[in-house]
Amino acid sequence: MQNSTYLKPNCYVNDAAFDWLYPEKIQQLSRRHWTPLSIAKTAARFLAHQPGKKVLDIGSGVGKFCLVGARFFPESTFYGIEQRLELHKYALEAKAATQAHNACFMHGNFTQIDLSGFDGFYFYNAFFENLTDEDHIDNQVEFATSIYNYYCRYLFRELEKTASGTRLVTFHSLEDEVPPCFQIVDASADLMLKMWIRR
Ligand SMILES: C[S@@+](CC[C@H](N)C(=O)[O-])C[C@H]1O[C@@H](n2cnc3c(N)ncnc32)[C@H](O)[C@@H]1O
Repeated sequence: MQNSTYLKPNCYVNDAAFDWLYPEKIQQLSRRHWTPLSIAKTAARFLAHQPGKKVLDIGSGVGKFCLVGARFFPESTFYGIEQRLELHKYALEAKAATQAHNACFMHGNFTQIDLSGFDGFYFYNAFFENLTDEDHIDNQVEFATSIYNYYCRYLFRELEKTASGTRLVTFHSLEDEVPPCFQIVDASADLMLKMWIRR
């Protein structure tokens, strides 16, 4: 962890600068597992479209999406839920270093929290690790296709229950978790990033 006085004004300049908030082993996971800064800004702008929005990052890792959102959209609150304790602790450290008062991190499985209080959700294909033998973040959790299917079905049902107007951003999603009541309203040119609003 670097000196916070130095980092605060500089860490949002580019991905390398932001990743410097974390130890080297976390920096090395960045390209594959943490949202790029420009994508985080675009997604957060859509989700925090009015002041006072409560946005949840499902599978928040080391907190990159939430911290970028919190910095650029200070009138909304960005919550993250992360199953891996080590990553959660790095998110808390980065929050302290950046003094991001409107970012809140929770440790646990997203199935353990009430999703009904949020206005918007960010989802960077958090469950995909269950479908591949390569590029795992670590071996601290179990991986299985059945776990992927369970999480997708669970999130699908929770999203179905949300109020009309609820916003969702997916990044690199296979869309197995997106119910048909969510309509795409915008997307990146490569279609990796999609913005959805519930009818
Ligand atoms: C691709 S990373 C994205 C991290 C962060 N959202 C970002 O964009 O920088 C997905 C994260 O989701 C977490 N995750 C996967 N399944 C989860 C679950 N059921 N509950 C909570 N976190 C989960 C993983 O541990 C991993 O840290």
